Amino acid sequence: MSQSETSSARRSLQVALGERSYPIHIGAGLLGDAGCLAPYLAGRQVMIVTNETVAPLYLETLRRGLSSDLEVRELVLPDGEATKTLSSVERIWNALLEAGFNRRCTLIALGGGVIGDMVGFAAACYQRGVAFIQVPTTLLSQVDSSVGGKTGVNHPLGKNMIGAFWQPRAVLIDTDTLKTLPPKELSAGLAEVIKYGLIRDAEFLAWLEAEMSALRGLDPAALAWAIERSCALKAEIVAEDETEQGVRALLNLGHTFGHAIEAHQGYGSWLHGEAVGTGMMMAAELSHRLGWLAQAEVERAAAIIAAAGLPLAAPAAMGVEDFLARMRLDKKNVDQRLRLILLQALGQAVVYDETPPTLLDELLESFPRA
Ligand code: NAD
Ligand code: GLY
Repeated sequence: MSQSETSSARRSLQVALGERSYPIHIGAGLLGDAGCLAPYLAGRQVMIVTNETVAPLYLETLRRGLSSDLEVRELVLPDGEATKTLSSVERIWNALLEAGFNRRCTLIALGGGVIGDMVGFAAACYQRGVAFIQVPTTLLSQVDSSVGGKTGVNHPLGKNMIGAFWQPRAVLIDTDTLKTLPPKELSAGLAEVIKYGLIRDAEFLAWLEAEMSALRGLDPAALAWAIERSCALKAEIVAEDETEQGVRALLNLGHTFGHAIEAHQGYGSWLHGEAVGTGMMMAAELSHRLGWLAQAEVERAAAIIAAAGLPLAAPAAMGVEDFLARMRLDKKNVDQRLRLILLQALGQAVVYDETPPTLLDELLESFPRA
């Protein structure tokens, strides 16, 4: 399939995980489609969890699509990465218990990756696991966080350090929701889209280079294809390696550096996608210093990251040790060996744990700051 076959028509993909397989439905106006969610509800009790930015925009539309036979509750949390904490998740558990929700309840996550990650984690633990549905409303959550079942919260010492693998029953992507997304958030989502091209699909990367201004201009066909191709690549990787024993780690390109930036700067100061954009540049530059990427390839990576509206320089306040201290806590590390995702070519990433420490120090020392 190609972009020319993807129009405003609805598309569905499948995340193939045996009896826990689930669909990703993509289309304009899906949110208001009565009955769209019905097949994925576990029982009559439904709790929609969203935040105070998304609620006024989309809560009513989603709620209208649910049958009046259901017992529907709503929980509106504060907005922001800084709220991605265990105490916010506890608010979800409190609301479920106060409402008397049982094991056959369904949680619906309406919002970006912060809501999706927290609601998924709440669902993973509530009464040892209940159903949940992802209704992602940012580009980042539509192309990445809503798919694959990584759920959790941040810890002051590290990003996403507390969590669980817990797959949703379905992912419902209404591409119309992107019309209200601030441009900076769109750019953050584009970082994860570019990531798929860099790690696994050189042809998609070339398409993104050609279509970047259409994407930033919210061209519906371009966005639909970028979302569909990203979800297809993610679904393929998750089906192969659900719990990140191998290939799934490639999805973390730029994340080891990026998570260090997010945690050091204070959650929410840099958007996750912005930190990933700069982190991918750091990974590209290190790959060049290892003799893998040519200078022209590093420049190509820089050009597309900049064209997406993402920062190319690391925070001025971060020294070498600020990076290293956070990076040593990364979940991918094994036996205290730093494990990075690097690029052998554009479109071909590898997991690498043999970076000479001096090379990494030199990169962290000399990488541009702003
Ligand atoms: P976010 O959830 O904070 O959303 C960004 C902002 O956009 C928020 O202010 C939100 O309220 C607002 N918003 C959401 N939808 C909107 C809409 N349609 N119109 C207007 N405003 C809207 O951030 P995000 O970028 O969606 O997600 C980032 C989070 O996702 C991070 O915590 C990151 O760690 C996580 N993540 C998880 C995975 C995973 O596999 N689980 C993958 C990537 C990222
Ligand atoms: N975003 C990384 C993953 O889902 O594995």
